[in-house]
Amino acid sequence: MLIAHWATFLPLDSAFANAALFPQIPSVMSFTSTGTTDTFILDGNTRIIVDSEFGREGSPSAYDFAKTFHQDLLAVTSLVGLPSVELIRPGGPPVGKSSIHVVVDPTSMNFTLYNGKSTNEGYNLVIREDTIRIEARAPIGVWRGMTTLVQQAALAVAAGKKLVSLPLGQVSDAPGWEIRGFMLDAGRHWFDTKFLADLCAYASFFKINEMHLHASDNLWDPVWLYGDGNDNWKKLYAAFRFEPRSGSSLKGLVTRKNESWTRGDFLNMQESCAARGVTIVPEIDTPGHSLVITQWKPQLMELGTPDHLNLSHPETIPTIKAIWDEFLPWFTSLEVSIGADEYDANLANDYIAFVNEMSVFIQKQSGKSVRIWGTNEPSNTSSISTNITIQHWDFPGDDIPVQLMAKGYSIVNSEQAFLYLDGKASDGGQFPQELNQDLMWGGAPDGKGWSPNIFTTNDPSNNTGIDNPLLRGSIMALWNDWGNNATTALEIYYQLARSLAVFGEKTWAGSDARASGLTRGQFDSVYPLLNAAAPGQNLNRIVKPEHGNIVYSYQTVQNGFRTGVESVGPPYTLTFSVQVASLGPDTGVLFSGIDSKLHVSSLTFEATGQLYSLNYTLPNYLSTKVEIHATREYTYAIINDDVSSKRYWTTVMDVWGEYMQLGNMSFAAPAQVIGGEGFIGSIKDVSLVLGS
Ligand SMILES: *[C@@H]1O[C@H](CO)[C@@H](O)[C@H](O)[C@H]1NC(C)=O
Ligand SMILES: *[C@@H]1O[C@H](CO)[C@@H](O)[C@H](O)[C@H]1NC(C)=O
Ligand SMILES: *[C@@H]1O[C@H](CO)[C@@H](O)[C@H](O)[C@H]1NC(C)=O
Ligand SMILES: *[C@@H]1O[C@H](CO)[C@@H](O)[C@H](O)[C@H]1NC(C)=O
Ligand SMILES: *[C@@H]1O[C@H](CO)[C@@H](O)[C@H](O)[C@H]1NC(C)=O
Ligand SMILES: *[C@@H]1O[C@H](CO)[C@@H](O)[C@H](O)[C@H]1NC(C)=O
Ligand SMILES: *[C@@H]1O[C@H](CO)[C@@H](O)[C@H](O)[C@H]1NC(C)=O
Ligand SMILES: *[C@@H]1O[C@H](CO)[C@@H](O)[C@H](O)[C@H]1NC(C)=O
Ligand SMILES: *[C@@H]1O[C@H](CO)[C@@H](O)[C@H](O)[C@H]1NC(C)=O
Repeated sequence: MLIAHWATFLPLDSAFANAALFPQIPSVMSFTSTGTTDTFILDGNTRIIVDSEFGREGSPSAYDFAKTFHQDLLAVTSLVGLPSVELIRPGGPPVGKSSIHVVVDPTSMNFTLYNGKSTNEGYNLVIREDTIRIEARAPIGVWRGMTTLVQQAALAVAAGKKLVSLPLGQVSDAPGWEIRGFMLDAGRHWFDTKFLADLCAYASFFKINEMHLHASDNLWDPVWLYGDGNDNWKKLYAAFRFEPRSGSSLKGLVTRKNESWTRGDFLNMQESCAARGVTIVPEIDTPGHSLVITQWKPQLMELGTPDHLNLSHPETIPTIKAIWDEFLPWFTSLEVSIGADEYDANLANDYIAFVNEMSVFIQKQSGKSVRIWGTNEPSNTSSISTNITIQHWDFPGDDIPVQLMAKGYSIVNSEQAFLYLDGKASDGGQFPQELNQDLMWGGAPDGKGWSPNIFTTNDPSNNTGIDNPLLRGSIMALWNDWGNNATTALEIYYQLARSLAVFGEKTWAGSDARASGLTRGQFDSVYPLLNAAAPGQNLNRIVKPEHGNIVYSYQTVQNGFRTGVESVGPPYTLTFSVQVASLGPDTGVLFSGIDSKLHVSSLTFEATGQLYSLNYTLPNYLSTKVEIHATREYTYAIINDDVSSKRYWTTVMDVWGEYMQLGNMSFAAPAQVIGGEGFIGSIKDVSLVLGS
């Protein structure tokens, strides 16, 4: 329904008349049409064939990627059939009609980034009437080409085409920048690895190649931390997400076992991200943002500043090294972030010595390179090694990237003025809910759109060229300054969804760097279609209604009835009548699903391990009609048809200990089980309908 609705606004049908591809996200570098109106037709008999010469090399290999591609094509087209992927020797018998031929050839193509360095992510798609040849010099390149084809197929389906067909010609495509990532603050907010793996899958559809996981941190409340002499810092939320092996001397570092990743969980997530071309770059943040370490070993703190480690204490650096020693073997990335932001500027020499020492240590232990956040640490006698990549975020307070590059530092652009988001709310509206589209499409000083070489809107001398060899790319960031209960995991996805897509375009193609780059209008029309089609996850929690908009409806249900629907994303309306029959305390749940639960007691929603009470008590033995309306912005209830009173589920966010900010909560529908967990009473006249 949604898809058809959008398609009517799109001039997609004209696309093939011009023998052009659909505009997609990110835009491809070039498409050269053969000029004919003939097409390649993808159907249930199309074979996916991987050239065996290099097809099995690498992890993932081209063959591995092809199997994911096969699933994705099935998911977006609902083609029946589509034979499983074959490995075939080059020069073997002709493969016959309608095939997609995947070829890795390390010696042939040499694609380059805007700065002239070569990239493995480039690829060609040679589209002929009988075959599409996906060719690249490395498996990751053919994967990017496969993603391009999956998007074309999804857009053809969205346009209502009966056949998925592609115009004949050649696509040549490569990214402008090496690093195109997103950072998620998983230190102040808990996320399970299933959710994170889903985010990787989603981001990879827009050719994003890194998920930077900020995996340790604490809430920041200056009164609790430094204020009152009552040792309140001991109680402030702090977390470290990697769970040490049993028997490890680091056991005391993870006190929140239910909010940490076991090695097995982490490795599975890392592998499933890699299977879609996304590298996890882990961050363990020291010597600032280290309350979780000082709660464990108070002797390591800087006196009076419990969230800072005292680098002069003889046990501090050995402790940090022991932490990296334990976890470095988990990580497959070639780089890790040691954080190193917001430390005392008057301890610059200690700080610089520490950062350099960690860089040498991590390199020696694991061969990995180190990144840090840009931090103002003025010293006349020492400097950070240029081996370290600096992730700039705060212009001009912490550093001036063009001046760092002039000194030989490699830079990743995470400038907050363009690229920061904060879960649900930011202090005084400093950051938007989603990346500011006006800035993204027109944020450079000349009014052109943003791209990774842009650090400021108003001073061209502080921006650099797209071809600067020291500019590695960009990472957008979502922080969770208000902790676990400010948002559900899915609300974080809602904030990221569109942002990741526009960021994918701007970091792959740039702004005005290529004639083929998307216009804002093209992006706006195509984004909803690609968001709905993105394979490998269902973060939208889309379900197929039974009929019309009705997901299900039951007049009577047994307690504990399982509906077969795990969860439904907003907007939806869940209506039911409930009669509580217990004389004792209100126990049990009315509804539960994979993302949320609705408890009888005070009509409390539970999501991502947190409780949100409506503070409404259902009367005993009387039937109450409850209607729950949810969008991505809020969830409210109407009780007994009293439409004059909408009761919103809310959260309270403690903003730096300065003021409390109320926020609405959006919950996915707890659609899977009706009644249970000790509920005594009856639930009837249940309906779950799409739309609020
Ligand atoms: C690819 O291009 C880069 C940059 O122009 C060059 O340094 C490199 O030697 C080339 N590699 C091959 C295999 O041609
Ligand atoms: C840091 O540790 C050293 C060595 O134990 C100690 O002398 C110093 O007072 C500590 N500094 C702070 C600020 O805690
Ligand atoms: C560095 O040197 C300059 C010029 O001599 C001086 O003004 C500044 O205070 C020095 N900074 C530090 C941190 O020593
Ligand atoms: C920089 O890295 C190189 C190569 O790993 C190493 O030989 C060198 O010692 C490093 N320099 C510093 C200052 O860390
Ligand atoms: C960049 O910005 C800073 C601070 O706004 C300014 O001092 C500097 O001169 C600017 N230009 C360059 C090339 O660094
Ligand atoms: C983990 O357990 C603590 C203590 O019981 C609880 O406060 C927290 O909400 C739990 N977290 C999750 C994600 O369930
Ligand atoms: C819940 O409702 C009761 C009764 O209306 C009221 O006294 C109480 O303050 C409310 N609590 C919250 C947390 O809103
Ligand atoms: C959420 O956490 C804050 C503290 O960070 C607390 O004040 C608030 O009561 C919590 N619960 C809800 C539902 O907002
Ligand atoms: C919750 O959403 C409703 C409907 O948009 C709005 O009127 C209300 O102000 C919101 N409440 C908060 C705390 O943002």
